[in-house]
Amino acid sequence: MSVHKEVKRVTTHILQEMKNRGEKIAMLTAYDYSMAAIVDEAGVDIILVGDSASNVMAGHETTLPITLDQMIYHASSVVRAVKRGLVVVDLPFGSYQGNSKEALNSAIRIMKESGAHSIKIEGGVEIAESVSRILTAGIPVMGHLGLTPQSIYKFGTYTVRAKHETEAQKLREDALKLQELGCFAVVLEKIPAALAKEVSESLSIPVIGIGAGSHCDGQVLVIHDMLGINKGFKPRFLRQYANLNEIMHGAIKSYVSDIRAKSFPNEKEEY
Ligand code: KIV
Repeated sequence: MSVHKEVKRVTTHILQEMKNRGEKIAMLTAYDYSMAAIVDEAGVDIILVGDSASNVMAGHETTLPITLDQMIYHASSVVRAVKRGLVVVDLPFGSYQGNSKEALNSAIRIMKESGAHSIKIEGGVEIAESVSRILTAGIPVMGHLGLTPQSIYKFGTYTVRAKHETEAQKLREDALKLQELGCFAVVLEKIPAALAKEVSESLSIPVIGIGAGSHCDGQVLVIHDMLGINKGFKPRFLRQYANLNEIMHGAIKSYVSDIRAKSFPNEKEEY
């Protein structure tokens, strides 16, 4: 008899059951093996290999520069660490907007080359054909509406979206369309809490919010933001659970000063 306890994997069906039971879903980003292992062991249900890697891992100002190959590299590192969570990978800018065949090919590359469990894509009715084609191939799709960072140069700013009725109505229609097409969940980013509540209540699939209030079925944050790794990024929606920047800075300073003082390594730390 095996002594190893089998870990029950989170599936899209389990997420749907969680919504049906009113149980909140925890989602967080990860981009590398070591962080993903910590995130998974801490009980996060959905682990997002976000294209925010472009910002927090590569130091770009926007999510636009990250490539499909780079996303696959991050995703495969995350997949190797995750035993329980559902791994979702962003289709990066330029890998799906051309046409639905390009979108399908990009989604297939992510699934095949990284071993991830699903993909996320930004947009509503305009990308319906691509979403539908990816779903037909048996790949679970998560939608992303509201502030969609790949369109930052169209918006011109990272402020709250869908504050006005025309945009709010478009978002309602987009969300419904994504559900009708067969998406297993939708992310709503930086929209008024009242609108997010309305959409979460009207959709039967899980709605995950970021800066979209407490009534969504789940919440997502970028791990570097919630752990306080990067200094200075403190939007209103962000709850910072640690100040790793300070902790890491202090630890590294001690390392440098120990080397300078010739106290590291000591006798116990040598062979
Ligand atoms: O790329 C990302 O991290 C995301 C989240 C902000 C939802 O899309």
